[in-house]
Parts: sequence; C-alpha cells; structure tokens
Amino acid sequence: MMRAKIVCLDRNDPDEEQIKEAGEIILKGGLVAFPTETVYGLGGNALDPEASNKIYTAKGRPSDNPLIVHIASWEDLDKIVKEIPKKAHILGEKCWPGPLTMIFNKKDIVPKETTGGLDTVAVRFPSHPVARKLILASGGYIAAPSANISGRPSPTKAEHVIEDLANRIDMIIDSGETDIGLESTIVDFTSENPVILRPGFYSEEDIREIIGDIEVDRALIKNDSRVKPKAPGMKYRHYAPKGDLTVVEGERGEVIDEINRLIKEHSKQGQKTAVLCSDETKDRYMGAEVISLGSLLKEDEIAHHLFDVLRTLDSRKVEVIYSEAFYTQKIGEAIMNRLLKAAGHKVIDLKNKR
Ligand code: TXA
Ligand code: MG
Repeated sequence: MMRAKIVCLDRNDPDEEQIKEAGEIILKGGLVAFPTETVYGLGGNALDPEASNKIYTAKGRPSDNPLIVHIASWEDLDKIVKEIPKKAHILGEKCWPGPLTMIFNKKDIVPKETTGGLDTVAVRFPSHPVARKLILASGGYIAAPSANISGRPSPTKAEHVIEDLANRIDMIIDSGETDIGLESTIVDFTSENPVILRPGFYSEEDIREIIGDIEVDRALIKNDSRVKPKAPGMKYRHYAPKGDLTVVEGERGEVIDEINRLIKEHSKQGQKTAVLCSDETKDRYMGAEVISLGSLLKEDEIAHHLFDVLRTLDSRKVEVIYSEAFYTQKIGEAIMNRLLKAAGHKVIDLKNKR
C-alpha cells in the first residue's frame, strides 16, 4: 500500500507551490523524503521531538543514533549551537553549502530526540537547490538521516526511497539521481582537536589543506570491534547486500585470476556469483554476472554508482559477490569505507597472503 505522495521536482526550477506543500507537511510534524547532493534524506522538523521519533520508527533506526540537522543559512546556525569554533567557521566558509557535516555543542532548543540523547548536534548546509528551498519552507531546520530502511544502502534515486519507505512517510520528492552518491564527510568540533568521524566527498587531505591538523576517528582506521566509533551510526552493520560480499585486494592481475578461480568453484556448487569491478577490468571475468562501477579514471562515477549497484545485487538474487578494491585518489577513502562495511570487513588480501 502506497501512502506517500510522489512529487517530481525540477532540481533547478522546482515548483514553488509543491515546495510549499512539502514544507507544510514538515511544519505539521509529517515526514518528507527529499534529494540532496549526497543521498536522499528523510526529513522531519528537527525542533519537534515527535517528528524525530517518527523518523526513527519509519527507518527502523536504533534511537541512540543521532540525526543530522539541515540548515539553509548561516544565521540559522547560531540559534541551535552554543559556539562556532574558528576552524569550523573557516571550514564552513569553504565547504558550505555542500557535502560536509559539522558537530557542535547544542543549545536547548534542539531536542534530545533529534540528537539521540547527546549534548552535541550534527549540522549540514546542503547545496542541492531543492533541499535548500525545502528547508526554508519548513521553518529552517530539517532533521534528516539517509532515506533508507536502517541497514540498507543509502538512496541515490527516488526509486530507492519508494522501495524502502513509500508506505511509511507522507511525501517523496523525486528530482532524479543525486550527484555524489555517498553521504557527507562528518567533522567533530566538540573535542580539543577536530576529528573526522566519517569520510566522504571531502577527504582528510582536503580538510587538512583548509584547517591544518586534523585527527581521524581511530575506529575508522582500525577495524577493531573494541574501538567504539565516535559517530554512533558508524558502529552499525550497514549497506550489506543479501549475497555474501568479499573484497579482494592486491595487484590487478592477481585479483582477476583469484576472482575467476573463485567464480569457477562457486559455479560448480551451482551458486550465482557476481563481480564488482571497473571498466578497465570488466572484460576479464568469466562465468559470473559482471558489474562495472565505472572507470578508475573517473572516481566520481564509481562513488555515484556504488549504492545503486549494491541494491541491484539484491534484486538479481546473487548469492556470492566478489569486489575489486577502489582505492582511488580522492574519494577512494570514502568509497572503501562504505564497501568494506557492506562486506562486513571480509577481505581476501593477496598482498599479505604470499
Ligand atoms: O550526506 C548526508 O549526511 C546524508 C544526507 C541526507 O544529508 N545524511 C546522512 O544521515 O547520512 P545519517 O543519519 O544516515 O548519518 C548520520 C551520521 C550517523 O553515523 C550518526 O551517528 C552521525 O552522523 N551523527 C549524527 N549526529 C552526531 C553527533 N551529535 N555526534 C556524533 N555523530 C553524529
Ligand atoms: Mg544513513
């Protein structure tokens, strides 16, 4: 049963009446999924505890996993955070509006329901024109996690949102595919030194270039379940396809040979196998469903396709999946963070095998 009203909006010239209608739904405590430049978000009024509760229920999300508050002007930031450290200001000046989330100490006006019980609040100023207009039409503050059922890949198309949430929310705004396809970079400014909690379009190096020294949450570097990530959401299993996904790392030729060998073994057992690879290598696999994420020379494309491909695997009922690694120049960090999570950190490392 479909409950959500689906509305198509031109990203550069969205119909004002429909933006107004969507804003009113949010102001009245309802939920609207909307596009951003990273992934689709599931929006509710960030200052309304009941709306935040509804978001958790719709997603099936654990209530200790805080939401990001989306704003559409710098002035609106002052009303919800206690102080803006100088470096946060510098970083925001460069990267906002855009795929960056910053964490601050929150003011009382932001309910604990929105922040998963924390005294800090994550804030993002998105650049997508539909997101910006919707935020302004909704009173200035939209709490929005990615618009997927908890644990599934984040949505990069309205179809993904419909698949997951159509009967659980009030409206879905369809403005086509999102640009980047991976969630925002999160930087925490509430400890002494700024810390990256989640890699994204902006890499560690980009951020270091802008504000100098920066730490990276140890839980991101070490895959050690004893190290608790500082972003509560990063501890949950995420993005995993139903098939059994393993990442194979090593020299290109060796990776191809090993995956082809594994495909043969699985097909003997009658298992349906898929390979995630690049345009450069896609013709070298045999006997499996071969899915290219794009050219290694266009890392933006690989990032853009990743979540859609992970969802595709489910609909094709693939049982076993092998993926190449994508340590590309800039976004590689973020791509591999998501891919390794999807694989539950299952890796065949050919370099260290010898
Ligand atoms: O690109 C994005 O950031 C997308 C779009 C919709 O804006 N949103 C998104 O939200 O990815 P979500 O809820 O899927 O991920 C938010 C992450 C979670 O890992 C959460 O734990 C972390 O941000 N987070 C939120 N508030 C936090 C806080 N106060 N302290 C630490 N981590 C926080
Ligand atoms: Mg999410």
